Amino acid sequence: MAFPTKVALITGAARGIGKAATRAFLDEGWAVALLDIDADTLDATMEELGSQERTLRLHADISNPDQIKSAFAELEAKFGRLDALVNNAGIAIFKPILETTLEDWNRVLAVNLTGPFLMTQIAAPLLSKTRGAVVNIASISALRASTLRVAYGTSKAGIAHLTKQQAVELSELGIRVNAVAPGPVDTAMAKAVHTPAIRADYHDTVPLGRYGLESELADAIFFLCSERATYITGQILAVDGGFEATGIGLPTLRRGG
Ligand SMILES: NC(=O)c1ccc[n+]([C@@H]2O[C@H](COP(=O)([O-])OP(=O)(O)OC[C@H]3O[C@@H](n4cnc5c(N)ncnc54)[C@H](O)[C@@H]3O)[C@@H](O)[C@H]2O)c1
Repeated sequence: MAFPTKVALITGAARGIGKAATRAFLDEGWAVALLDIDADTLDATMEELGSQERTLRLHADISNPDQIKSAFAELEAKFGRLDALVNNAGIAIFKPILETTLEDWNRVLAVNLTGPFLMTQIAAPLLSKTRGAVVNIASISALRASTLRVAYGTSKAGIAHLTKQQAVELSELGIRVNAVAPGPVDTAMAKAVHTPAIRADYHDTVPLGRYGLESELADAIFFLCSERATYITGQILAVDGGFEATGIGLPTLRRGG
């Protein structure tokens, strides 16, 4: 018999935005399968959450088809249903174009773009039974180009378009697909790639004048998977403090010239 509550599968759930999203779904009474490549952090998070009956630990690399196949088999055995898939796991390698190796490029594309493609493909039959939803995590780097992120930005632009492809085609199965494009959020990933100077610049450039909170991203992700969003599909929702809206974002102009 299928599990009595709704079930979400969240990738990259061991920390950061994925962990905050996990908490949001659990708080709303859902069950959550937490999938992550980092076994130690996943174990710590599982212990912290403590909700054995409504959580499932899935240790897998989303770019590895065999590993995600066995993860899905575990999910199906425990819950027998899936109402939402959050393709959140991602990696960032920040380097100039001329220093980005083929290995860097291939790994970033494999995790950030191929992973969500594979995960959604394997999840679709279960999601179709519940008329469920997919949320892909893109980035402001999907919407606007910058330096030092040729692979990351391209992978995120790819996932933004993948979202539309999936939304159009999977609507036939009753599945909605949207994306959330976070602005800067103070997670371990951001700490690794944002220097103090980059942090100061973001504070200056983002109209709301600050980094986003993990919980603010989690709220948007949950909304798009919820009963409140049943006519929304194929959208890329920037949750970015207004960053995407700033066309001519010159600090001097914003201060009144
Ligand atoms: N933090 C930001 O400022 C920011 C901005 C825009 C977009 N994003 C995106 O949001 C998502 C979450 O970012 P975060 O800041 O929480 O990152 P994070 O690095 O803190 O967490 C990412 C999680 O994904 C896991 N992961 C990485 N590769 C994996 C793989 N191959 N298989 C399974 N799990 C894997 C990691 O182990 C980690 O637990 C990412 O897709 C990221 O690109 C983040």
